[in-house]
Amino acid sequence: MNLEKSQLASKNLHFLESVDSTNLELARRLDQAALPDLYALAAASQTKGQGRLGREWVSEPGSSLSLSVFFAAPELPELMPVVLAVAAARVVSLHAPEVSIKWPNDILISGRKVSGLLLQVAPGGVIAGIGVNIAIQRGAPETACALSEFGAASFDDVLSGLLMELGQLRARMAQSPADIAIELVEEYSKNCSTLNSRVRAQLPGGGEIVGLATGINATGHLVVQSDKRHELSAADVWHLRN
Ligand code: BTN
Repeated sequence: MNLEKSQLASKNLHFLESVDSTNLELARRLDQAALPDLYALAAASQTKGQGRLGREWVSEPGSSLSLSVFFAAPELPELMPVVLAVAAARVVSLHAPEVSIKWPNDILISGRKVSGLLLQVAPGGVIAGIGVNIAIQRGAPETACALSEFGAASFDDVLSGLLMELGQLRARMAQSPADIAIELVEEYSKNCSTLNSRVRAQLPGGGEIVGLATGINATGHLVVQSDKRHELSAADVWHLRN
């Protein structure tokens, strides 16, 4: 695997051809030793990729990019989903048109999912996991797509783009967290296809809300107006026909 650009983008990149899950492997490495900020683990395939809400994330060799990055004590822990989604959307936009973010953290191209994000709290920080479909995978649902449908995008191009974006955002977060928080929520909101949609939100503890998604608040929560105003920190969301 040629990782020339990615190795220039990060001094702390570790690559594996295959692993069960980059998030799990990064968590194991953190159990063994303290790791530096922005320690990054990328893999060309995962045998047990983890998705949100205990789902599986399929990462076949040659068609997916799996990346986990350790953020040591980030200044804006609650905004990490926003940071990650903005970074991933910026990179996907370099390779495809019509890119949007479905709250909380799916990256879509023309409404089909190309990338998923999974954040996990770890000792001393947060593990930020990003999966990107580089080429379409066997048995992928119709709701999924891959960057290869929109032209050539190499593993190294996408990985180096993600590492650069995350590095730059990390530096700005450390310098001026309040300013970057406002900018990121603005950029996320501008690109969020969930906003102004009628949504059905299934809440983690059970229960459901149907209403209009009207905004993203300062901590990245989705504002849904039904008979009353709700601010959702986590949920499974479906866009309904308006
Ligand atoms: C989702 O959409 O449900 C989230 C998918 C997150 C997948 C990435 S791939 C890299 C990292 N390692 C994992 O096991 N999961 C995340």
